[in-house]
Amino acid sequence: MQKWTREEKDQILNERDEKRLSLLHQQIRQSIWRGQYHIQTVTGLMNDPNGFSFFNGKWHLFYQWFPFGAVHGMKHWYHVTSEDLLHWKNEGLAIKPTTPYENDGCFSGSAYVKDNVLYLVYTGNTKDDYGRMVEYQMLAAMDQEGRIGKDAKPIIYPQSGYTGHQRDPHIFYEKGKYHILLGAQNENHEGRLLLFSSRHIRDGWKLMGELTIEGYPSFGYMYECPDIQKVGRQWLLLFSPQGLHEKGDLTTNSYQSVYFIGDLDLENLKFIPKGEMKLLDYGFDFYAPQCAFQKEYRDKAVLEGWFGCSDCCYPPTDEEGWANMQTLPRMLSIEGGRLKQRPAKALKALRKDVVFEAFEGSIRTNRLFGRMPSACVMDLENPSDSDIRLNLFAKNLERGFEISYNASTKTVACDRTDMVHVVNPEYGSRREVVLDEPLKKMEIFVDHSTVEVFINDETVMSSRIFPTASEHSVRMSGRDINLKISLADTTVNDDFVLFRR
Ligand code: FRU
Repeated sequence: MQKWTREEKDQILNERDEKRLSLLHQQIRQSIWRGQYHIQTVTGLMNDPNGFSFFNGKWHLFYQWFPFGAVHGMKHWYHVTSEDLLHWKNEGLAIKPTTPYENDGCFSGSAYVKDNVLYLVYTGNTKDDYGRMVEYQMLAAMDQEGRIGKDAKPIIYPQSGYTGHQRDPHIFYEKGKYHILLGAQNENHEGRLLLFSSRHIRDGWKLMGELTIEGYPSFGYMYECPDIQKVGRQWLLLFSPQGLHEKGDLTTNSYQSVYFIGDLDLENLKFIPKGEMKLLDYGFDFYAPQCAFQKEYRDKAVLEGWFGCSDCCYPPTDEEGWANMQTLPRMLSIEGGRLKQRPAKALKALRKDVVFEAFEGSIRTNRLFGRMPSACVMDLENPSDSDIRLNLFAKNLERGFEISYNASTKTVACDRTDMVHVVNPEYGSRREVVLDEPLKKMEIFVDHSTVEVFINDETVMSSRIFPTASEHSVRMSGRDINLKISLADTTVNDDFVLFRR
């Protein structure tokens, strides 16, 4: 594996890099693990979704990006757009680190639409002469032509009483003011959420204090990527706490993304949860999600997450010079006090030729001939609560990527133990979730190196896999199940766009 020097990791994208990155992209395009309907890095490494929003008739998503290779180097923002949340277009570089307040990268942030301008707030990450991290909150603005201008000075400076970890601003408007929710770590190394308010987006930001979560005084050592969104009449608070893994809580992932449903009491700086803290995803690879909102959806929000996780690596594609994708957009709603997560409606159109169909356990159509399609959608119904086992990308009689359901314990499991490439084995190679209700339905989206399992319109498990040429069979078992497998359309052009012209 390539060893990156400090200098190489600190590179900032320039016009003169176009040629060599175009060559890198030509190689990357050949990879058997490139997706055909997921947002994926153009070159190098992608991580968090940023500035996810609906503006000027389109969905906009920016992502954390190191252009030159699969390593967490100097972070830039890359821009993609979509009219329907299904077809995505590469727009090119959006933000690069140029000011002294971002000498170690332009970190994550969010977007707010006002008066035909898309405001982008993000973290300017710096390292001082002793290598200590100092973080500033910065502002950029994009016009309707897609031109982005950055403010030279921060809108929020580092706060005392907290360590250097103060980042990932989420901007929102409520009760006549703008607010920014910021992830932070206090001097006792505990995760905190800071709330700032202002009458203007550009200036006047004041720290109001810590937003506390009633009943959850402290957990984790740092909160990354907070997001708060009104979904119908309830508030949904999400963030990515670090330090739960060490305590063995929730899952064995290196880090998790959690949510609370509840009320927001801005005056008293309190979030009052209705119910417990829950995970947004029970798979292996999911982190730093954020929501976007469109007026027409009213009581819904759309969620995008990084199809990866910090402190994890993905050697099969790292070696090819690229890392990571974004998860499929999920439609969120709160029904009967529970968070529902469904694939965005537009994804229905992904389903092309039906190559397999079983009804009440008997096969009606089978054009698979035992071979696993590299991109498909599987729709499964389980009317009589049967045990289920699906072995995708299996080598001979091995298990491959196994999705199973145990009806007596209501447990769904995803297991990648038997794959040739087992990535991040130090965090375990099996994930399980115990459902509140028996398994009624699953929608499984497979895209070359991704598997997303949507269960009962509520629970999601997202996992990266790297099947080799010898891992190509598929086996399925389940009494009385209905199962339809459709080949998937290609909706993301893997084209090389570096700069907006
Ligand atoms: C989360 C994160 C953020 C930070 C960004 C840097 O994955 O660590 O907290 O802003 O990534 O790329």
